[in-house]
Amino acid sequence: MKALVYLGPGQKAVQERVKPSIQFPTDAIVKITKTTICGTDLHILKGDVATCAPGTILGHEGVGIIEEIGSSVGNFKIGDRVLISCITACGKCGYCRRQMYSHCINGGWILGNTIDGTQAEYVRIPYAETSLYPIPKGEDEEALVMLSDILPTGFECGVLNGKISPGSNVAIVGSGPIGLSALLSAQFYSPAKIIMIDLDDNRLEMAKKFGATHVINSSDGKTAQKLMEITNNIGVDTAIEAVGIGATFQICQDIIAPGGTIANIGVHGKPVDLHLETLWSKNISITTRLVDTSSTPMLLDVVVAKKIEPKNLITHHFKFDEILKAYETFGNAAKTNALKVIISN
Ligand SMILES: NC(=O)c1ccc[n+]([C@@H]2O[C@H](COP(=O)([O-])OP(=O)(O)OC[C@H]3O[C@@H](n4cnc5c(N)ncnc54)[C@H](O)[C@@H]3O)[C@@H](O)[C@H]2O)c1
Ligand SMILES: [Zn+2]
Ligand SMILES: [Zn+2]
Repeated sequence: MKALVYLGPGQKAVQERVKPSIQFPTDAIVKITKTTICGTDLHILKGDVATCAPGTILGHEGVGIIEEIGSSVGNFKIGDRVLISCITACGKCGYCRRQMYSHCINGGWILGNTIDGTQAEYVRIPYAETSLYPIPKGEDEEALVMLSDILPTGFECGVLNGKISPGSNVAIVGSGPIGLSALLSAQFYSPAKIIMIDLDDNRLEMAKKFGATHVINSSDGKTAQKLMEITNNIGVDTAIEAVGIGATFQICQDIIAPGGTIANIGVHGKPVDLHLETLWSKNISITTRLVDTSSTPMLLDVVVAKKIEPKNLITHHFKFDEILKAYETFGNAAKTNALKVIISN
């Protein structure tokens, strides 16, 4: 089969690989119909993710059809259409019993990281019973690819951890696929103001279409001042960090209102400053989280009911043969205006 293989920092190639087979009775082999590229795949290609060894097939998002199934997988059968979670959950360890699947001692984020991923014709999914979700008949599969990672991430790490409540004021720093997913799912709770912050005017325009009440281009360094004008000098109850750098975590610290919550989503490669000299008296909370995908079944229901339309995050389509072009398009988002790209087999 064809697969997109990580070959070390800065290097990747489409290679011919052996089709995966069942290794444990809890496995399933899924024929991938649609997959996508994540910012995290770009992090791996930069060499930022030490756990991902050269030779690994990339990708942790996608939908497909069950091709083969292990003897102990009871809830799926060959031919079923499934959504693949970016997080593998054994369902039995202490973390899984707490629905903290991201820290599953037998799984967690392993797909396209420590084991071969979804950017291929087939993928082996360990613990298939608890790591795959059935796709309801007739559903738009492309839209559901957004449920493998970005929607649960925006919702769990941003919206739930950020304790968004009706009438509250929210700022989301970073208007990429993750920030926009937080924006979509924040609206479940009817906050009064949702202020999106980014450097890229095109992404801010998208944010307006997706429900932002205000947008701020932070390139002039006056973000906090502008946000204070919008919030009557109070700041926001929830500040979601969806970039992963010190400068944007700083913006969150500058704009948080007393009693508020800073919910960090971004993957930070470098240390950041924490200004307790200004925050110590503000009664705030700071949260961090690796996505658990415990909200996936609920989000699936919301998407099926058309309460949100994650399909609008898809900007480009490619065939698997064009996956290198898909990477180029996704990697140059500022020029190509790419948000999510769909790769079809
Ligand atoms: N916690 C988790 O489980 C989890 C899961 C998936 C992704 N992530 C992380 O979430 C983050 C966002 O992911 P994404 O795919 O949306 O990334 P992205 O790179 O597509 O988007 C980031 C956005 O931030 C903007 N930005 C960059 N510097 C900025 C600045 N100084 N001020 C304001 N905006 C700025 C960019 O213009 C871009 O629109 C990444 O760090 C990613 O690794 C975390
Ligand atoms: Zn991802
Ligand atoms: Zn587990």
